[in-house]
Amino acid sequence: MSTEQTTKLPNSLEEHWMPFTANQDYKESPRLMTNASGMYYKDHHGNKLIDASSGLFCNPAGHSRKEIKEAVAKQLEELDYVQPFQQGFPGSFELARKISKHTPSNLNRIFFTICGSSAVETAIKTAIAYHKVRGDGHRSHIVGRERGYHGMNIGGISVGGMIANRKTFSSILMPNVHHMRHTHLPEHKFVKGQPETGSELADDLERISMNIGPENIAACIVEPIAGSTGTLVPPKGYLKRLREICDKHGILLIFDEVITGWGRTGKAFGADAFEVTPDIITMAKAMTNGVMPMGAVASKEEIYETIIKGSPKGTVEFFHGYTYSAIPASVAAALAMQDIFEKEDLINRAAEMSPYFLDGLFSLKDIESIVDIRGYGMMGGIDIVLDERPGKSGYATFKKLFEAGLSLKATGDCLIVAPPFISEKSHIDEIIEKLRKGITNYQKSH
Ligand SMILES: Cc1ncc(COP(=O)(O)O)c(C=O)c1O
Repeated sequence: MSTEQTTKLPNSLEEHWMPFTANQDYKESPRLMTNASGMYYKDHHGNKLIDASSGLFCNPAGHSRKEIKEAVAKQLEELDYVQPFQQGFPGSFELARKISKHTPSNLNRIFFTICGSSAVETAIKTAIAYHKVRGDGHRSHIVGRERGYHGMNIGGISVGGMIANRKTFSSILMPNVHHMRHTHLPEHKFVKGQPETGSELADDLERISMNIGPENIAACIVEPIAGSTGTLVPPKGYLKRLREICDKHGILLIFDEVITGWGRTGKAFGADAFEVTPDIITMAKAMTNGVMPMGAVASKEEIYETIIKGSPKGTVEFFHGYTYSAIPASVAAALAMQDIFEKEDLINRAAEMSPYFLDGLFSLKDIESIVDIRGYGMMGGIDIVLDERPGKSGYATFKKLFEAGLSLKATGDCLIVAPPFISEKSHIDEIIEKLRKGITNYQKSH
């Protein structure tokens, strides 16, 4: 990597306590991005890096989209902020209507949040409020899943199943939470798409129900594809079985689609890809192409109606909301992104590019340190193991990949690959070549 600095380092790196970062290590040798355009970033040395993970699954339309920048600038000229409680502005209503055209079935009532984590908290509270209004207040238990990721707030880490995110905070996790087993079985190694086996793991929900009484369970929350733990694709029939068990016992099914929402599976939502309709969907990230903070929760009309009609007219029906819920600049970005989705047929582009991308990803199978590859749509996970200490190989490879000119996300020992939907075949080729080079370089240096 060139040592020439085209952009000066900040005077001090100490004051910024970075999220989910090895702060001490990073600050010795920082990776600072200074520009982004289309499929590429530029770092402070002036090196070009291809974006293999759409930032953090955020930028399906690529970087620096003129339409979004202009829409945000125009919105800020006209109306910069309005309180979202008991006031509003036209854009958020227009956006909710547009979103509801794409959500499955009648999940047409859209509650805006600030991010994925706040969408998850909102979904949990919606489920609890719904049951309470119906006189089912005893439904206070929530079922999540091992290896699930549902953001960083207390509700999210409670229902989530990533140990490192939970153990420090184990004393303050939400009560009444149960976890199903994750769905990644040993025989799923190197399986492209949905595994044939494992649908019976959904019966964990039935077992938990029988253990505490199904009448006490408010909701079951899962990601259709577990994203942050490295693209754990649901076994064939698994989500359908979860739906059946939820229906049998009056449990609400929540799909956390913060990653899978808006095209990552090749369909608008994971719910469409796997043909299972949940009661509530969370979304974020791609909604604004990642450039403005925004999340949302889509609920079935009857959930909205029940909660709204549960209070007399003139009173607040749902005591929940955020200062930055659907602020004008985020809405402007999301509306511009809706236009891009439509004009560029982005979701179908993702579906069309998926086989080429997955073939490329699985072509890396021969590399010795790769112990598993998984993939679906435009998302994939590669597990690397050379070091016994968990997380060491992933982080070391991530650094080698950065040097090779590739930016992605590593979680533990898994490399997460999720290219923008604007990727051409040549970009996929470049990503695969650089993955090979970076991973092999790590192997050699180990
Ligand atoms: C499935 C899922 N839920 C929730 C979140 C949290 O989103 P955010 O980081 O925007 O709060 C994420 C983030 O990656 C996610 O993947």
